[in-house]
Amino acid sequence: MTPALETLLLAFRMEGGPPVPGRALLLGAAPHPEFRGWPGIVGWQPLKPEATVWGQAGLPRVDDPAGSYPLVMVLPGKSRDETLAWFALAREHLEPGGRLLVAMTNATGAGRFEKELARACGRVESIQKHKCRAFHAVDDGTWNEDVFAEWRMLGARREVPGTRLVAAAGMFSVDHVDPGSALLAAGLPGGMRGRVADLGAGWGYLTDAVLKRSTGVKRMDLYEADARALECARANLAGWQRELSFHWWDVSKGLRETYDAIVMNPPFHRGRETAVDLGVAFIHAAAAALRRGGSLYLVANRQLPYESVLESCGLSWHQAGGDPSYKLLFARKR
Ligand SMILES: C[S@@+](CC[C@H](N)C(=O)[O-])C[C@H]1O[C@@H](n2cnc3c(N)ncnc32)[C@H](O)[C@@H]1O
Repeated sequence: MTPALETLLLAFRMEGGPPVPGRALLLGAAPHPEFRGWPGIVGWQPLKPEATVWGQAGLPRVDDPAGSYPLVMVLPGKSRDETLAWFALAREHLEPGGRLLVAMTNATGAGRFEKELARACGRVESIQKHKCRAFHAVDDGTWNEDVFAEWRMLGARREVPGTRLVAAAGMFSVDHVDPGSALLAAGLPGGMRGRVADLGAGWGYLTDAVLKRSTGVKRMDLYEADARALECARANLAGWQRELSFHWWDVSKGLRETYDAIVMNPPFHRGRETAVDLGVAFIHAAAAALRRGGSLYLVANRQLPYESVLESCGLSWHQAGGDPSYKLLFARKR
């Protein structure tokens, strides 16, 4: 239960506030005990760990929002473009006369985004509490649809400069190839064989690099928590005549298959928070999923203490290169 969600719910508890409608859509879904009393709420959540938490609360989820609702609520993602694209998505699924309600922390720019919404909707009501804002507007037929169209475009897939691969707002490294990933791609050996996995595969950059370098790779499995990134990877890799499989997956929970090799640039953030434990969980998952003698190829920021984790997982490792910001750690399962 986040402060933003608490603030969002205040809109319904206030005197003169809107009633809880029969049906509602929550974009960026996160559970709250009060939602159990909402008869027709459905959640859209592209991130696997968060979607699992929503499902475990017994709340219904949609893979892709469809239809229209009298209330669409938004708990925005990370980036500016993604947030505005979600406003446009919310608008798309709002019934005529419906209410669009957003809640976010002041630290993520709530005041600025409230002004943006007012640009499209005119009158916006606002509640401030818990260092957050909840702001909402009712579709009275006067909204500026050009502004929503502009925001919809911010969420469209676009080519990542220097590649022929597409990505979209909110995914990892949309405007450029991550320098760490580029370093790993350049340092990968050419003779990889058998079954290979890409953990935290994003929009498919590292898988594409493996397939370019190693014709002996028979099958690649991509594991990624962000369903939208995984769909971009599917589109980006469609031209390869190799067996590929795409898993919407929380890698920190482990894998079910075994591999000859694994590549990864592990995440170490949850949302905006640093979370080195996530990178550590990726190494544990990789070590458990490698067959004996299998290889792990990973890149990490220099300050991340992964060497001792490789050691404790029974992998022998060496530093295979790097630059002032990143290190390549190549390891083998003993
Ligand atoms: C540092 S990025 C690397 C992306 C891609 N491999 C590349 O090199 O461009 C880490 C990726 O891990 C994904 N991720 C974060 N947490 C995850 C989790 N628990 N399970 C699976 N993937 C996760 C992120 O969405 C992101 O795409």
